[in-house]
Amino acid sequence: MNDSSSRSPGPVFRDPADAALLRQVLRDADFTATGVAGRLPAVRTGLRAQDRPLYERQVAGTDPLSTLIRLFLLGLRVPFEAAEAALAPLGVHRLQEAMILTVADGSVMSLTQLLVVADLLIFGDRDDAMLATPDWVAVSSPTATLVELLTIRRPVRSSLDLGCGSGMHALLATRHSERVTAVDINERALAFTRFNAQLNGAPDVECRQGSWFDPVSDQAFDMIVSNPPFVVSPESEFLFRDSPLPADELSKTVVTEAARHLVDGGFAHILCNWALGEGDEWPDPPRRWLTDAGCDAFILHFGTEEPMAYAAMWNAPLKTENPSAFVSAVDRWLDYYRSRGIHALCSGAVILRRRPTGERPWLRALSLRQAPEDPAGEDLLRLFRNEDWLETGGGDQRLLESAFRLLDRHEVRQTLGYRGGVYDSHRCAVAQTSGLRLEVAVDPEALQVLLRLDGSHTLRDIAQQVASELGLDVTALTDKATTAARELLRHGLIVAQETVDLSASSA
Ligand SMILES: C[S@@+](CC[C@H](N)C(=O)[O-])C[C@H]1O[C@@H](n2cnc3c(N)ncnc32)[C@H](O)[C@@H]1O
Repeated sequence: MNDSSSRSPGPVFRDPADAALLRQVLRDADFTATGVAGRLPAVRTGLRAQDRPLYERQVAGTDPLSTLIRLFLLGLRVPFEAAEAALAPLGVHRLQEAMILTVADGSVMSLTQLLVVADLLIFGDRDDAMLATPDWVAVSSPTATLVELLTIRRPVRSSLDLGCGSGMHALLATRHSERVTAVDINERALAFTRFNAQLNGAPDVECRQGSWFDPVSDQAFDMIVSNPPFVVSPESEFLFRDSPLPADELSKTVVTEAARHLVDGGFAHILCNWALGEGDEWPDPPRRWLTDAGCDAFILHFGTEEPMAYAAMWNAPLKTENPSAFVSAVDRWLDYYRSRGIHALCSGAVILRRRPTGERPWLRALSLRQAPEDPAGEDLLRLFRNEDWLETGGGDQRLLESAFRLLDRHEVRQTLGYRGGVYDSHRCAVAQTSGLRLEVAVDPEALQVLLRLDGSHTLRDIAQQVASELGLDVTALTDKATTAARELLRHGLIVAQETVDLSASSA
C-alpha cells in the first residue's frame, strides 16, 4: 500500500487544452506500446512486484521516456527538474492541479498509473494502492483485456460500457460507435473515464453515475460491454471486485438486464463467473438465467475451479502483503461456499444477440481450451452466422447440397499411431490458430473430405469423389463428412458458401 493513494475525487483537466498538450508530451516522448516495451520488455506480459529492482535499472536513463516510465508506470519518485523537463511544455504544476501528481521535498510522485492499452493512453489508480481504498480504479487488467478481445466490433449507433472503470471499453467503442455511454457507480471511475476520454481525443463519451442500468433505464443499445465485479465471494468492500449481491446474482442480473437493453440484433458481451451447485454441469446456471431472455446466446466457458483454488486466486494479493489475512480470507470464502452449497466456480462470458419479439432464440455453450489472446470478435460473429444457418433447417440434406470454405487461419493436427509395422492416423483435429482457438476432433476419413472444402463443390460431390479415389464406402463416408461438417460449422471453422453455383459443381 502506498501513502500517496489517499482518496482524491479522481483526475480532472482544469483547462481542456491540457488534454491535447499531455497527449502531445507523451507522444513526443514515445510513450506508446512499442516505445515503452522497447525500454521495459516485461510490460508486454505484466510487471511483477518482485522484479521492480530490475525494471528500475532498465529505465535509469535521463531521457524523457525513461523519466515518464519511472514516474507513471513504476510509480517512483522523480526529481522535480527531471519531471519538469520530461513533461515540458505542460509542466508538473498543471498535472498537480489535475490531481495526477504530487510534489514534495523537491521530488514528484504520481497519484495515478498510466498504461498504453490497445493504443489508448489510460490513467487509473496506482496498482500498489489496490487494497487501500474501496473505490480504487484499475487502469487495466487481464479481465479487461478479455472483454476487449471478445467484443464484436461493427459500426453501430449506440454503445454502452457498463461498470466502465477507467473507461477503456468506452474509448474502444468510440472507434465504431456514433454515441457511447459509460456508466459506473463509482464517481472516481467516471472521473478517470472523462479524463481518459479527453486525453485520447474522444471527449464526447457520455458519463452517467448510478447502479448498473438505472442511469439508462429507458434506453436500448446496439452494443453493450461489461466487465462487472463478478467474483463470487462473501466480500463487499471493493467496487472493482466485489458485489453486495449473494453468490453469482450479480452476473445473473447484468446478463438478464443486458438482454432487456439491446435493440433487435444488438450484441452484449458480459464477462461473468457462476457457481455450480450439486449436480450442475458447467453451462447450467447461465442456461437458467437465459430461459426467457429473448436473445440468442453463446455461453463461453474458460474454466472451472474448486472452491479452494478460486478463493486462493482472488485473494492472491494478500498472500505476500499479509499472509495471515490471506489464510483467514480463504477460510471465510470456503465457509461461504459450503453454506450456500457451492461445489465449484466457473469463469466465462455470455455473448447475447437480441431477437426480434416473437422469434425463437437459440442458446449454445462452448468450452474454450484457453482464454483468447488476440481479437475474437470476428470469430464470434461467424459463430452467430453459422448457428443461424444451421437453425434455418434443411438438416443433413442441406449440408450435403451446400459448399463450404475452410477458415483461413487453422491447422490440422494428426496423431499417427504405430501398430503392426504401419503408422495409422488415429486422432485428427482441425484447430483455429488465433482468436477463440476452437478445436474440433474429426474422423480421419472425413478429414479427407473436409480438406477439399474450397467453396466451389458441394459436400456430397467431394465425399463421392474422395470415396471413389480412396475406395471407401460412399454412404459411410458421406455420413461421417456430414457429422464433421456440422461440428466444424458449430465451431466456426468452416463457412457456407451461399453463392456457389451448385448446378455447375455437380455437373
Ligand atoms: C472489474 S471492474 C471493470 C472496470 C473496467 N470496465 C475494466 O474492464 O477494466 C468493475 C467496475 O464495475 C463498477 N461497479 C461496481 N458496482 C457497480 C454498480 N452497482 N453499478 C455500476 N458499476 C458498478 C466498479 O466501480 C468497477 O469500475
